[in-house]
Amino acid sequence: MPVSEILYSAGQIAARVQTLAAEIDARYAGTELLLLAVLKGAAPFAADLMRHLHTPVRLDFIRARSYQGTASTGTVTITCYPEISLKDRHVLLVEDILDTGRTAAVLCAWVQSQAPASCAVCAFLDKPSRRTAPIHADFHGFTIPDLFVVGYGLDLDERYRELPDIRALPS
Ligand code: IMP
Ligand code: MG
Repeated sequence: MPVSEILYSAGQIAARVQTLAAEIDARYAGTELLLLAVLKGAAPFAADLMRHLHTPVRLDFIRARSYQGTASTGTVTITCYPEISLKDRHVLLVEDILDTGRTAAVLCAWVQSQAPASCAVCAFLDKPSRRTAPIHADFHGFTIPDLFVVGYGLDLDERYRELPDIRALPS
């Protein structure tokens, strides 16, 4: 296996997801949330997060594909839309990682077009040094340097999503 260094263990992840849920509960007290998890990478994170939230939630999914021409001309297309109407709902877009931010920017723009009550972004990992789109995580689990990581839903060519921890590829 070409991945070795454990950045965050399963225990560290579980502890952080719990405190993150408390931050989200504090922000959304007295409301209901629509968790919009971005397939496929955010599935484990969304599943863990929702079980720590006290705020009542609905869960739906959205999927985007990034077509990379050159590194600087990737275009993002939404390939699967949620079933639940977003209108007048508090939408929390749940992402595995904010890298360039292009995916989240496109998804947020679409969410906004659906007239939600509010839209915020919760990313498990944030790689701010790579950001090119004008987007920030309203909530995030961990900030990481410019490393390619796998595990806890994150893949390298569809592999390693099942790892319970976050690991960095050797550079
Ligand atoms: P964006 O550059 O913020 O649009 O990120 C697009 C997608 O790239 C993310 O949702 C991830 O699926 C993937 N990605 C970005 N960085 C990593 C990484 O370090 N490991 C695995 N996937 C990544
Ligand atoms: Mg991926």
